[in-house]
Amino acid sequence: MGIRFEQSNQTFYLSGKNMTYAFCIHKSGLLQQLYFGNRLGDDDLGHTVYKTIRGHATNLPYTDRNESLDEISCEFPMFGRSDFREGIFAFNANGVRVGDFKYDSHSITEDKPKAEGLPTLRGGETLCVVLKNELHSLAVKLYYTVYEELSAVARRMVVVNEGEGSVIIDRAYSFSVDLPRKDYQSITLPGAHLRERQMCRRDVTRGVFTADSKYGVSSAQMNPFMALVGKNTDECYGDAYGFNLIYSGNFALKTEMGQSGVVRVLGGINDFDFEWCLGAGESFSTPEVAMVYSPNGLGEMSRSFHDLYRDYLMPEAFTKKPRPVVLNNWEGTYFDFNEEKLCDIIRGASGTGIDMFVLDDGWFGERNGETAGLGDWFINMNKLPHGFDNIIKCAHENGMKFGLWFEPEMVNADSELYRAHPEWAIHVKGLQGCEGRVQFVLDYTLPQVREYIVESMSKVLSANEIDYVKWDMNRAITENYSEWLQDHGKEFNHRYVLGLYDVLDRITSRFPHILIEGCSSGGCRFDPAMLYYSPQIWTSDNSDAYARTAIQHGTSLCYPLSSMSCHVSASPNHQTGRITSLESRTAIAHLGATGYELDSTKLSAEELAHIKKDISDYREMQELVLLGDLYRLNDPLEENLFAQMVVAKDKSRAVITVMKPLHIGNTCPTVIYPCGLDENASYTIRECGITVSGRTIQNAGLLVSFPYGDFATTVYHLDIVK
Ligand code: DGJ
Repeated sequence: MGIRFEQSNQTFYLSGKNMTYAFCIHKSGLLQQLYFGNRLGDDDLGHTVYKTIRGHATNLPYTDRNESLDEISCEFPMFGRSDFREGIFAFNANGVRVGDFKYDSHSITEDKPKAEGLPTLRGGETLCVVLKNELHSLAVKLYYTVYEELSAVARRMVVVNEGEGSVIIDRAYSFSVDLPRKDYQSITLPGAHLRERQMCRRDVTRGVFTADSKYGVSSAQMNPFMALVGKNTDECYGDAYGFNLIYSGNFALKTEMGQSGVVRVLGGINDFDFEWCLGAGESFSTPEVAMVYSPNGLGEMSRSFHDLYRDYLMPEAFTKKPRPVVLNNWEGTYFDFNEEKLCDIIRGASGTGIDMFVLDDGWFGERNGETAGLGDWFINMNKLPHGFDNIIKCAHENGMKFGLWFEPEMVNADSELYRAHPEWAIHVKGLQGCEGRVQFVLDYTLPQVREYIVESMSKVLSANEIDYVKWDMNRAITENYSEWLQDHGKEFNHRYVLGLYDVLDRITSRFPHILIEGCSSGGCRFDPAMLYYSPQIWTSDNSDAYARTAIQHGTSLCYPLSSMSCHVSASPNHQTGRITSLESRTAIAHLGATGYELDSTKLSAEELAHIKKDISDYREMQELVLLGDLYRLNDPLEENLFAQMVVAKDKSRAVITVMKPLHIGNTCPTVIYPCGLDENASYTIRECGITVSGRTIQNAGLLVSFPYGDFATTVYHLDIVK
């Protein structure tokens, strides 16, 4: 049992493999946070509670004078009752914004209750603690699901209006955790289009630091992930706490160090441009947060997230099964294709082992460029006079399935859909809308828009043999409003996201056999909620092997390799102009759900033979990508080196991929220190022709030799000697 309530000290203990999370019912009735860290027994934790200095002489009314909420750690902290820091919840009941939420009851269930309208982790044993604010007839249900074999807890809350009138919610975060006084650093994943999720580490000091998105999507600019680590924490040693919101819209993650030096970390839906009117009897669910603790550095934290997402989040039908090796025509043709050209590309790759041809943007409506057609989800019969029939036939004859691109949330002004329903595009009456890539965003808060999209997509998906959908989303949201919301315009952003989940729920349940690849101009919406629907996401439009090392390194902090779609594209690279070898492009693209993004007819016979061999190598290592343990052997943002290692769960084999971006003449030797092997077993290293013990490789290191030139890559295969 991972959840236990100890009557004698009124304490809840939530325990996973290497983790305990504990809080108790304070004598005031509030919930007091006691501990989050390495696994403990069931000891009483009362002695760890600091008797406070009463932050400027304000204290909690129900207790003795030396208890101020400014220094007590609360499980549900709120402003206005002697806690002057950021809180988890803020409401407005006819102007009153202050109240106490006291323990009412709790229950522990074996099954995890479903969250309405929001993707969450699957799971079992769940604690629900009910808090009540009698004065304003508000109840809050705090849900905690424990993953005993992992070091993870999932947390979310539901606010219920039990009164007669409406209450405005100004903030409803998913979690708040106070961590003991220590020198913490935060790690976030900021970025931009083409340079997503660049790991960024900084000291946590006094004051508030916010990492957030206001883009309407979880965004390339900041991922909904934050870790708190000790100053000395590295990949293998030290405390690491990870928080990842299972949410695809505007979010905020904050740290605040208060007067006692305790660091509060909290977050959820961004309360900037947010408000929710909760009518009598209504409830509001927050997104879930996945919280992971590792006593053994960032590496173990990442591996816990990877296991958690593979076992409990990503769609079970696809997650652990071999993914198709994809050939996508986007960079090969852009909009300039016809049936013959597509069939040539398919035939060109025949026999290489590619098993999915994906037709990207440009097959529908009047879509011959960026300016028209979005929203018209019917085949452009001028461009493809036989529809998909011959293309699908050709794909099947050449051993490939067929996948199709959609951008279901968008509309071009030059489209039949917009001409018929201009009001379906997000807009503010009288204000010229901002265009992004010459397109507008459809108002997914409107049921009729969602209905149209589900039906028009379903028509295409049912009429053709389609096994894969690339779900794109190529701009941020502006003019964030929908007329029907009237005074409650600040509900727009969250309602958009709920609308998106509704459409995804309907499409995935109607077509359970279709693998959805998420995409948003590459990786502008790479978050756990999208992974709930799509087992893989196009990691970045930047397919340059070198640029990808930093992107994939950062992404791996919480997302498993198998969630990252990584393709080999042409050289010079279309985004960076960089020339890299096919070997290097392949090695980096093999660290994920792999594929090709090029025109196969332009490949030489040698290149095609190379690709055939690469795909068979990938098949050999794919199980590691899908199920293995990832070890980041160094930080490519700090050193002229990228090195990642994937080890089988049973430690029977491993693959190490190393890239030396710049070849600098006569430099020091490059030695890497592999991890995760069985120290007592012997391994052969295929490429070196040697056999050594795990202990020796891990301690004495592996001297890497690179081919001559820049962006050179070496891959080592390690096999246990039986
Ligand atoms: C952006 C995606 O990231 C690309 O891969 C491609 O699908 C284009 N959109 C198509 O418009």
